[in-house]
Amino acid sequence: MTSGLLPSSGAQAPIDIDALARMASALFSALPGEQLRTAGVQAPINMAPAGSPLASPSGLGPSVPGTPIPQGQVPGTNLIPASPTAHASLAHRAPALLPHATAGNGLPDKLVSELPAYEPRFGSGVLGVPEAVGAGAPLPATAGTPSPFYFVSNSFGHPSAGALSVEAPAGVISSEPKFYFVDSAPHASSAPLARSDAHPPFDVNAIRRDFPILQERVNGRQIVWFDNAATTQKPQAVIDRLSYFYAHENSNIHRAAHELAARATDAYEGAREKVRAFLHAPDVNEVIFVRGTTEAINLVAKSWGGQHVGEGDEIIVSHLEHHANIVPWQQLAAAKGAKLRVIPVDDSGQVLLDEYAKLLNDRTKIVAVTQVSNALGTVVPVKTIVEMAHRAGAVALVDGAQSVSHMRVDVQDIGADFFVFSGHKLFGPTGIGVLWGKRERLEDMPPWQGGGNMIADVTFEKTVYQPIPNKFEAGTGNIADAVGLGAAIDYINRIGIENIGRYEHDLLAYATHQLKPIPGVRLVGTAADKASVLSFVLDGYSTEEVGKALNEEGIAVRTGHHCAQPILRRMGLEATVRPSLAFYNTCEEVDRLIAVVQRLALARQRRS
Ligand code: ALA
Repeated sequence: MTSGLLPSSGAQAPIDIDALARMASALFSALPGEQLRTAGVQAPINMAPAGSPLASPSGLGPSVPGTPIPQGQVPGTNLIPASPTAHASLAHRAPALLPHATAGNGLPDKLVSELPAYEPRFGSGVLGVPEAVGAGAPLPATAGTPSPFYFVSNSFGHPSAGALSVEAPAGVISSEPKFYFVDSAPHASSAPLARSDAHPPFDVNAIRRDFPILQERVNGRQIVWFDNAATTQKPQAVIDRLSYFYAHENSNIHRAAHELAARATDAYEGAREKVRAFLHAPDVNEVIFVRGTTEAINLVAKSWGGQHVGEGDEIIVSHLEHHANIVPWQQLAAAKGAKLRVIPVDDSGQVLLDEYAKLLNDRTKIVAVTQVSNALGTVVPVKTIVEMAHRAGAVALVDGAQSVSHMRVDVQDIGADFFVFSGHKLFGPTGIGVLWGKRERLEDMPPWQGGGNMIADVTFEKTVYQPIPNKFEAGTGNIADAVGLGAAIDYINRIGIENIGRYEHDLLAYATHQLKPIPGVRLVGTAADKASVLSFVLDGYSTEEVGKALNEEGIAVRTGHHCAQPILRRMGLEATVRPSLAFYNTCEEVDRLIAVVQRLALARQRRS
């Protein structure tokens, strides 16, 4: 090596990452911050030094939490890549399905012209529908005009995309990033809810490289994870953040005791703030960490319900609910002599607001509804439902377990009293979830569990409780996984939830378009506004048989009742096959599923 900056030999010499790092750092430090920003480069802060235990093995991974970064690291770790392979999943498709491939669009021509436009949701459903394919939405716009379709233009929604790319020194830095977010600042203070145009172009292939499990092979085939409604896979940034916590921060959270306690407390409370920002909640103390959605709903049913629901009172849920949003209310109703009432749905699986209006009365104490159905994918107009509940004098809880990974959630816009979700459905760890509640509600509620951490003073005569949130967090919480959830939120924020929503909308439309015409397929759940889920049954096969056939090809779906027996029975079924999509899924993966279903359908036709 010469001068500590450049490889000593010619172009064929192996790239020395350390040398590269120093060279780039020298370049970056020579540029004033304003120039860097103009070039679309974030200032190289909060980065792990190459080779430090805090850097990923590649040197391109997550950074040092909360530590100013010295010179001498790979500045590329803080670039936002402008990838030439945006939407490459679609561009690799069979030519027959690729009339717009050169435009970065792999959707069939006809389908694209028929897709309804995606509109970002803010709490209530406004999106068009896969089922409405054929509704004659306008054609995608030509170059220079913003297109309503995400796939049509690489730069749609990203007017600054060009400015985000940075020319690397020739032959030095690969134009294709190894990871989508090569920097991951797991400990950065709350990430802002950036506008979609603040994000790099959506590049599904780069995103997929962030999820190591997507490289697994099952039955000799690369896994296709279509069981996202059950749980989502975790990006390397989350895996690394958990590992970093246990390697460098692990302690119980009693800040004043010692250094590691302070680090753990900061990490845990930092995660709470990330959740607050993600939900656009007004007050970080309104965020209660729990095990998951189920525990959050049980907390409200036991604490708020125990205090406010009495004999003859009524609790309203919808027919779409997961068992977790039925059983706790049933238990409460049984204990109190109250009544559980159910908002019916139409045949598409959408709630009937007229019928809901008839259920509301002055005995209604709480309305608890899901924002997205886990079994059918219906996006429920929760904002309207909450408004109607409030007009009737009831409080409202929204179950966001299936919505937070697909759409922007703004709890102030939705207006509910409580909003709940699980970390593991948001690309975070299992065993951590969130109850958000309005301050006045939470302050009014008694704790539901007693123990350490939630008390201010204990004598044998009485206990004085901590204020919220601690009042509801008895015992040692799931500290590491809360921190992991914070890292998942950072990851989502960097991609942009609106970008995710657009991509998934088109992917779901594509999958629906492919699946629907297969002989013997019945789609279950055809509401005008859906997210992620594509439930179906296939004539001549049990759902288990379809699930097994898919598994043989490495494709993971859930089959069965999906913990939502009432809605499946409303649809005349006990079980469905349920592929559920996430933003790392691709059209090629959809094609693999379609091929299996087509093969089964053909075999049945030959048999009969
Ligand atoms: N609620 C999860 C699902 O829908 C478990 O599969």
